[in-house]
Amino acid sequence: MASLPAFVPATHPAVAITSPGKPLQLINLPTIPPSPGEVLVHVTHTSSSPLDLHRASGDLHVHNNTPFVMGITIGGTVVAVGPNTASGLRVGDRVFGFVNDGSEREAGFQAYATVPAWKLGRVPEGIDIRDAVAVPANLVTAVHTVVQDLGLPLPWPVVPPVPSSAAEKGRAKEKEDKIVLVWGAASSVGMYVLQVLRHWGYRHVLAVASGKHHEALKELGARQCFDYREGDVVGKVLGYLEGLEKKENNKEGRPRVPYIVDCIGSKEGTLRPLTRIADKGSRVAVMLPVINVHTTKDQKSELEMDVGKVLVGEWKNGVELRGVRTFLYHQNEFFKHHLQPEIVPALLEQRVIKPNKLRMVEGKTLLDRAQKALDLLRDQAVSGEKLVWRVADDIY
Ligand SMILES: NC(=O)c1ccc[n+]([C@@H]2O[C@H](COP(=O)([O-])OP(=O)(O)OC[C@H]3O[C@@H](n4cnc5c(N)ncnc54)[C@H](OP(=O)(O)O)[C@@H]3O)[C@@H](O)[C@H]2O)c1
Repeated sequence: MASLPAFVPATHPAVAITSPGKPLQLINLPTIPPSPGEVLVHVTHTSSSPLDLHRASGDLHVHNNTPFVMGITIGGTVVAVGPNTASGLRVGDRVFGFVNDGSEREAGFQAYATVPAWKLGRVPEGIDIRDAVAVPANLVTAVHTVVQDLGLPLPWPVVPPVPSSAAEKGRAKEKEDKIVLVWGAASSVGMYVLQVLRHWGYRHVLAVASGKHHEALKELGARQCFDYREGDVVGKVLGYLEGLEKKENNKEGRPRVPYIVDCIGSKEGTLRPLTRIADKGSRVAVMLPVINVHTTKDQKSELEMDVGKVLVGEWKNGVELRGVRTFLYHQNEFFKHHLQPEIVPALLEQRVIKPNKLRMVEGKTLLDRAQKALDLLRDQAVSGEKLVWRVADDIY
């Protein structure tokens, strides 16, 4: 284990749930020197995610795990590297990453985090740390969902296809034509799903989001957009699909949409409409938890981690439901070693991925900023953007 550099304090502040259902608290944690394979990061910025709300208002995996240190993203500077850490990260590097909340070592809402190096990437030159910190959690989610839950391979590195035979041309065309429906495309997850699909050659992506986002979503790769705030969005999606079927008369027995990503997981808002669109053979990847009841000031959220228990009997036979669990992405050994250290920074550096639009959350203290961001999530005031805020009080 490395010792702490002299300028690093022995303890530091962190934002935690100390008792389920109670307001967030500021606690003091020991700063942990990095072990082999880890680095110590001075966390300057983080981003908030609806998962914070599921923890604070839905007690999701918080019971028996308090104090529960919050935060699934970190952005900051490496201040110490553990012995025998072969990641190439060095003191002074600007890094960003998707980490585990609930962990006193690595969670994001604390001034110093001790993080396995495979959960971090170097922030590319010319990219602001505030933009970078909006990316890793949901870009990792997008890649994991497409590969693990939709079953569509995303080979890395991406080599532009130069089909030399008719068979290869046929395969490339088949991929381009695969229909993927992204419901909740203006969410942070949705915007990265669109960009990932575009980069890997999927050209027939349908997006459901508020009309005000449609132009921006087309720039990210959506071919056709539908407004869920207008009447009969399901009828409009089905009408579009029927129009396609009429053009191609060989669709017999195949699902109208083989691949669906529900980026929201709301029982009434997204799953119920999708029961009318998914057919036998459709694969539906749903962001967990399913939100049966969204929280308000006076009401706790009601969440379900088993998508198979929601709207039972309302899906058509043969629909394949998959609950997305991004925290398990490292079970794919390739992604464990390459996704955050290499792929995420490269996609950002090559400007293939545009970070979500930022909404900076201001506040006098670390706790104020964390609480304000949580209130914005609770009030469903986040639309087509990511909440980003400063963690360290000892920077500008
Ligand atoms: N299980 C996992 O691995 C995993 C990973 C990542 C995220 N998640 C979960 O996925 C959900 C989304 O996360 P996020 O960070 O992407 O959220 P977000 O960006 O905060 O979501 C806000 C967006 O949701 C959209 N929205 C809300 N209700 C909708 C509906 N009925 N139809 C279409 N769009 C709707 C809004 O779209 P408009 O602006 O168009 O109105 C808004 O832009 C959260 O519950 C999160 O916890 C799960």
